[in-house]
Amino acid sequence: MTADLFTSLSLADAAVPNRVMVSPMCQYACEAEDGLATDWHVQHLNSRAVGGAGIVMAEATAVEPRGRISPQDLGLWSDDHADALADIAAFVRDQGSLPGIQLAHAGRKASKTRPADGSEPLQPGAGGWETIAPSAEPYPYDEEPPATRAMTEEDMEGVVDAFVDAARRADAAGFEIVEVHAAHGYLLHQFLSPVTNDRDDEYGGSFENRTRFPLEVIDAVDEVWPAEKPLFVRISATDWLADRESWTVAQSVRFADRAAERGVDLVDVSGGGLHPDQRLPRTGPGYQVPYAERIGAETEGDVAVGAVGGITTPEHADAVVSNGRADLAIVGREHLRDPYFTLHAAEKLDRLDDVHVPRPIRRGF
Ligand code: FNR
Repeated sequence: MTADLFTSLSLADAAVPNRVMVSPMCQYACEAEDGLATDWHVQHLNSRAVGGAGIVMAEATAVEPRGRISPQDLGLWSDDHADALADIAAFVRDQGSLPGIQLAHAGRKASKTRPADGSEPLQPGAGGWETIAPSAEPYPYDEEPPATRAMTEEDMEGVVDAFVDAARRADAAGFEIVEVHAAHGYLLHQFLSPVTNDRDDEYGGSFENRTRFPLEVIDAVDEVWPAEKPLFVRISATDWLADRESWTVAQSVRFADRAAERGVDLVDVSGGGLHPDQRLPRTGPGYQVPYAERIGAETEGDVAVGAVGGITTPEHADAVVSNGRADLAIVGREHLRDPYFTLHAAEKLDRLDDVHVPRPIRRGF
């Protein structure tokens, strides 16, 4: 049987009720700068679950304070953080959606003001902090960046432990999916790409060496994350830096296979974010779908793929799945415009019998 947008998807022991995922989207809404979920996160995530998406993936959630992009980022570095998220996970589950959470470390892209305040680098002493990265090379901002320190092995062990602790807490808080963020130029992507990794130890240089740390993180998370719950990784399929030695789709295919061997159930395929010189060959509807399609086709193992980027209509989301280009249609900004994207898609595609419409709003559909 060919799958379509309303066919359930089996991942690990979970059944995702449909093929729509709310893409992780930072809300920069922790006004107290403590990483604790606020009423805004409750509304943002819960309303998208009411809207029928099969998976509601919470935003990039920092595994340690210096891994935050901005001081207002969500975090999961203590049990209090998990407690603040538990009711959200329970409510999302009650709507029949799978609650997921993206675990993140921004590396050298940390310590900035939030987009609403200009995304400007923040200096230590002025609300910012020293950042860590594979190499002591700060992100090339126009403005003065905060200092970036090359990670020692001890730093790396600390970051692995922080991912592990956050994964344990995500499980305890009731999340059904964890996604390791290895895309968009953040810490794990900084290790993968030769553009940002010029280490001369076993974590830099060859493909084997550059992928070692991200795979160690995935391995360690997989060890504590329950086998019956799906594990995702988000990657940038390419740096979009064709003018230099960089991370490519071919390397992403190999990395996806290695990640799958370590227990990853789905590779969420995004792109870029590593360097301001990036040049996108195409934009517009489905601009990254070809990468997901290629990774799905060329990986040797049995790993599902998710496509994201410029998917905004029910027909397009359905076509991505029906034409076998990806197993999951991941929708970001359209979910900001329309939290009820999946219910509206079911209405438009005449599939309301195949979605869960919560009882209090059933008369509206
Ligand atoms: C994002 N994006 C993003 N990606 C990610 O992996 N983790 C995150 O926390 C965020 N945060 C975020 C915030 C906001 C406001 C936007 C608009 C985007 C990227 C997002 O998940 C998605 O990949 C892109 O927006 C492309 O998909 P759409 O929006 O074209 O469907």
